[in-house]
Parts: sequence; structure tokens; C-alpha cells
Amino acid sequence: MCRWEVVLKNTTRLCATKPIVTVNGKFPGPTLYAREGDNVLVRVTNHVQYNVTIHWHGVRQLRTGWSDGPAYITQCPIQPSQNFLYNFTLTGQRGTLLWHAHISWLRTTMYGAIVILPKKGVPYPFPKPDKEKVIILGEWWKADTEAVVNQAMQTGLPPNISDAHTINGHAGPVSNCSSEAAYTLHVEDGKTYLLRIINAAVNDELFFKTAGHEMTVVDVDASYTKPFKTDTLFLGPGQTTTALLKTDKGTGKYLIAISPFMDTIVAVDNLTGIGFIRYNHTIAFTPATLTTIPPVNATSVTSVFSESLRSLNSKKYPCNVPLTVDHSLFFTIGVGINPCATCFNGSRAVAAINNVTFVMPTTALLQAHYYGINGVFTDDFPGKPMIPFNYTGTPPANLQTMNGTRVYRLAYNSTVQLVIQGNSILAPESHPTHLHGFNFFVVGRGVGNFDPVKDPSTFNLVDPVERNTVSVPTAGWTAIRFRADNPGVWFFHCHLEVHTTWGLKMAFLVDNGKGPNESLPPPPSDLPKC
Ligand code: C2O
Repeated sequence: MCRWEVVLKNTTRLCATKPIVTVNGKFPGPTLYAREGDNVLVRVTNHVQYNVTIHWHGVRQLRTGWSDGPAYITQCPIQPSQNFLYNFTLTGQRGTLLWHAHISWLRTTMYGAIVILPKKGVPYPFPKPDKEKVIILGEWWKADTEAVVNQAMQTGLPPNISDAHTINGHAGPVSNCSSEAAYTLHVEDGKTYLLRIINAAVNDELFFKTAGHEMTVVDVDASYTKPFKTDTLFLGPGQTTTALLKTDKGTGKYLIAISPFMDTIVAVDNLTGIGFIRYNHTIAFTPATLTTIPPVNATSVTSVFSESLRSLNSKKYPCNVPLTVDHSLFFTIGVGINPCATCFNGSRAVAAINNVTFVMPTTALLQAHYYGINGVFTDDFPGKPMIPFNYTGTPPANLQTMNGTRVYRLAYNSTVQLVIQGNSILAPESHPTHLHGFNFFVVGRGVGNFDPVKDPSTFNLVDPVERNTVSVPTAGWTAIRFRADNPGVWFFHCHLEVHTTWGLKMAFLVDNGKGPNESLPPPPSDLPKC
């Protein structure tokens, strides 16, 4: 069992020191190493004055929904001086994932990698690498991020953008703090490195580019892919890419650049985070080989990357995409504004799915469901938009959202097709949307309005990529399919924290109330109370 102590730690970045919330005083937090099939036990004890929870992003949590972690969805938070034992088994998964705090904006500093190795004696489906490295990308604010989000919610305005993009916690030489080093991957020539790259940023989808070296992508979101080569990865927050990198340059220093894709609508965050791949670190001064960095609006780069992803779909790792559909859903997602008397300018930024802005309950939905507590949520989440319109054209004058804590019920083991359509009510934006408790298959994507007659004929039902977070393209759509084989209450939201905060979230409820497989086991006795 791991013991994770949530503690404050004074941390200096960009010439300024602030106390941050950490696990065991580490930033980034500890890497959780395990093997497929392992039972994971992590006792989290809260020593800070904030409420906390930990989410194991992408871990299926088959029948262990109580350990999933999103505050007020599957559990009440762990209050100051309380603790909770997360207890789950890594079933049918191996690869790279991440964990992060799942309450307010604490994940800005509380995050880390999850590395799931194959079962003992089971090889990777690609040549064995010589070395493995975790590379975790993040964002850093000089200000206290709880103050940043609180101020944004009070004024109704977008929050301040971050001051740096980080690689393994290094802000690097973006300011004139000469003492801060950039992240450096020290390499030996003639080897193969397995890079486990994770986007743990808060509000930015990111490009990850390596100068002079191509990477071979072999896994995303802990699902094997057909290998393909590229020097530019595209990762939304919550997404991971595992890639092989061959070191064949003999000597030298090569730039690693991380740069944002189409950030917030109001302020574009153009900061590039940098690091290096370095041979022969004994040579003191080596000028770096640079690379061109994709521009902030490089939509074509994101499309090429997304469309190159395919499930491995081998005999050993078949692709189990559902071929029939029981629930066919259509969700519009986007950002808008609602009137607000107390806000700056009399309006506030909101975000919604099918025009519903999700309101966080004060009791966890899973508890409310399990114990039959009335008045916490309703199960009338609309499966399609209430007012259809031209989603990517000029929106109707009045598209005020309505507040609600609504869930959508899925029959246990039913198959689901969900088309997620980005709308342009305020402005078109790309949304990395994440589903808890399942992997889904990305069967289609496109620009403009989804066409229910023509577009399904283009769906890939042979080897679609399997993942837990998908970018819905700017002014476009993405179609996913999954099997609702996991009883519980499962959060679905945009993984740009600013959009989650504004209400771009909902939950699916899966529970037939019958038999041990189809319904949820009782909660652990130490489950926190609200
Ligand atoms: Cu990685 Cu609900 O989150």
C-alpha cells in the first residue's frame, strides 16, 4: 500500500516562491508504477486546509466507482485531517495514464504519472526499448490558482492564463531566472527510449515537438496503436502518448518544444515551454538544434495526428468497437454567456452540454444514487439538443443555458454512440472531452455540422483508436462508441478546467440494480462524508 500525504510545499518557479498543494511534497507528484492486473491501494491523508480528492484518469475502475475520485460525483472530498483508501484493480489495461486532484483547480500542482506495465512475462507488441522515461507536461501560475479561479467565478470573466508551460515541473528559461534549468533528457547514442508523454496541463491542448528526431507512436491513453512516425504529437489535457525515440545522432543537443493549440477565446496563450534531448552531457556548451514550432492555430497538424491514430487491432489485442447501437446520443458542447447581475459587465461566461450548465451538487451523486437520496440530481439529461440550430454558423439570438444537475441513464451493458458537436455560440473552440469509467472508440470526426445521414457511412468500425479523452475539433464534431459495462456514476466533461468550472460537464448513470456484475458493490466503510 502507498501512503500519500497531501502537504503544502514552498516551490520556486519564475523567480517567485509560493506554497503549493502536493502529494508527499513532490512536484510533479510520485509516479504510480504497477502491472496489469495489480490491485492498487493508496491511502490519501489530507494535511492541508483544502478539501481534496484524487482521480485515476483513464483507469477503468470496473465495479470500483467509489475509488474514481471526482469530488461530488463519486465521493465527498477528503476533508482536512481525514483520509481515504483508494482501492482498485488495473483490469485489461497497460500503458501510460495520469492521476490528478479532482476538486476545484488543485490539479494545477497535484498530478503525476501512472505507468502500467504488461503482466509479468508478457512483452510489448513493439521492440523492447532500452530505457523508459516519463515526460509530464503542465502549466504554472505565479499566483495562487485557487485565487485565480475564485476571482474568475466572481467577476464572470475568463481566468488569467498561466505564466509558463512546464516539462516534468521545469518551467525552464522562460524568464530571466538564470538558476532555473530547462528539462533535459540525457541520452546515450544508439538506444531506443520509450517516452511516456502526459498532458497534465490545466487549460491547454499542447503540441509536443522534438528537433532532429522522429517518434514512433505505439500507445495512447493506455491503448496500443498501430505504430506511426511523427516529430509532432498533439495532446489534450488528460491525454497520454507513448512513443519510441531512437537516438542516432551521436552527439549534440536538440530542442523539445511544447506549445499550445488555440487556447482560450479571449486571451491566446502563446508561451512555448522548452526542454532538450542531450547527448554527451560532459561537453559543457553545445548550441541546441532548433525546430519550427507549430503556430497556435495549426488545426491541420491536430487533424493529421488525430487521423493517424488506429487501434492495434491484432489477434492478441483485438478492437472491440460496438457494431450496433442501443443509445444514440447527440451532445452539443460550447461556451456562452448568461446574464449575471453581480458580475462585471452584467454577464458571466458559462459552458454547457445540450444547453444545460451542470451545477455541482453538495452530496456526491454516487452516494445519492446508492442510498436513494432524493433531490440531489434528476435523470432527465437531454440526449439531444433541446433547440437544434446551425451549430457552426451564426447562433440564434437567445441561447441562454439552463442550470441543472442532470444525469443520463444507460442500461447496463448497452452500447452507446455519442456524437459530440462543438458549437459556436460565443466562438468555436476545440474541446478535449473526457469520459470517466470507460474507454471509448473514436469512430469518426469532421468539420462543420454533423450530418446524421451522410457522416455515419464514413465511420471506422474496423480499427478506431480507443481512448478516454478526445479532442472535438474546432467548429466540428467527433463520434464515439462504447459499451456501458461498468456500473456507477461516470463524469463526462471538457478537460479544459476553465470549461469544467463553467459547467461543461454531466454524468452517466449505469446501474440495473441487479446482480453483482450489473450493479455497484457497497461503498468502503471509510468513504468520506459531505
Ligand atoms: Cu482527468 Cu474528470 O478528469
